[in-house]
Amino acid sequence: MELVKGNRTAPMLRVDPAENGLVGTLGVPGDKSISHRAVMLGAIADGVTEVTNFLPGEDNISTINAFRLMGITIDQDGTTLKVHGKGLRGLSEPTDIIDAGNSGTTARLLLGLLSAQDFFTVITGDASLRTRPMGRVVEPLRLMGARIQGADETNRLPLAIVGKDVVLEGRYYPTPVPSAQLKSAILFAGLYAEGETSVKEVAKSRDHTERLLKLFGADIDFSDDSTTVTLRKTDKLTPCSIAVPGDPSSAAFFMVAAAIVPDSEVVLTNVGTNPTRAGIFNILIEKMGASGIKVNSTEEGASGEPVAEITVKSSSLKPAVINAKELLPAIDEFPIICVAAAFANGATKIMGAGELRVKECDRIAVMAKSLTAIGVKCEEEDEGIVVYGTGGKRVRGGRIDSHGDHRIAMALAVAGLMSEVGVTIDGADAVDVSFPGFFGALDGLRR
Ligand code: S3P
Repeated sequence: MELVKGNRTAPMLRVDPAENGLVGTLGVPGDKSISHRAVMLGAIADGVTEVTNFLPGEDNISTINAFRLMGITIDQDGTTLKVHGKGLRGLSEPTDIIDAGNSGTTARLLLGLLSAQDFFTVITGDASLRTRPMGRVVEPLRLMGARIQGADETNRLPLAIVGKDVVLEGRYYPTPVPSAQLKSAILFAGLYAEGETSVKEVAKSRDHTERLLKLFGADIDFSDDSTTVTLRKTDKLTPCSIAVPGDPSSAAFFMVAAAIVPDSEVVLTNVGTNPTRAGIFNILIEKMGASGIKVNSTEEGASGEPVAEITVKSSSLKPAVINAKELLPAIDEFPIICVAAAFANGATKIMGAGELRVKECDRIAVMAKSLTAIGVKCEEEDEGIVVYGTGGKRVRGGRIDSHGDHRIAMALAVAGLMSEVGVTIDGADAVDVSFPGFFGALDGLRR
């Protein structure tokens, strides 16, 4: 691997083929989704919330900066945080625009929280985030009484939130797409709304907000099939200690790397195994037959989230048909599942993946283009992709552009390990969004 400078990844980087199997033990960084929510809820709790194994990626730093701008003191020492919460009404009007950077979670969850504050805010983001749909969040918030203004019929950032004198009212809202960002935005507004706020999903998206709200003492409950969550107005959130589990979405890159590079044996410690995020285990182990992957004894961690140690030995992979229901708990793993599929014994079809077109980039189009560029045959479909696997043989390799998307960069880096000439990644620095030090961690497993 070349061109890594200091802590920050260089914009262009070549991942060389792995000559031998990958070996070692790795603790992946803290979960991105939980790290955002720990800061947000900590900021509006009454007192100090301590967070350990916080992910100091660029997305989460955007969340920290937003709350500092609203008068919250946050002490950061590497991956440990002390968030000095000022209570549900303790945020102050920011003196500048809030910049969510590349982070959809920061922007969408803040839209919900800020709708209920008695002041004016403007949220913007980087060029990618400014193209992503916000209307899905604005609509239910407006139904609750929020006043939000912006361009493109309030569907894109920047958006202005006029919170002064607004009284929100709780509602029952069936969401058009299962989305944890949408559900969480409504729940954040629901903390302040009169009466009950209920969100119904056709299938349950990741539930970190609900678990943390419970931990912070909010009045929240779930339907029997847990696709409906109901929250009642809260006066006070109690600060707590949160030990963030390792991010399963970051672990997924190493799981696939060790599965596809022959003679590998890698141990991943403290990986989050929340069932709403654990789709990658089902897809790799059950559907693609990765017999070398073992999820060892799941236990409940300090933040109400299950964690486990994962061991991965290389094995052959079967092709699979993956549907929308199976993909939902692995929604962020689409790029790395495509890479796993590129080495399976036949054609893998991923369906019902339309949401992937509005992530950090159009991940269906960019994965189709990137796989083609490194010599993998594939076909792009409206809502998915078909990838023709090599049956474990190396792919040619080549040059790809991350399109500023961290998960595209990391997925193609993994493919580079099983290439003939390496994979050169333009925009490799995008990995800093969720996994600063990713390339060093990957290199550390080489023999
Ligand atoms: C996230 C929810 C998902 C996911 C994103 C993080 C969250 O997005 O893709 O990376 O932290 O709530 P959607 O809610 O748009 O599905």
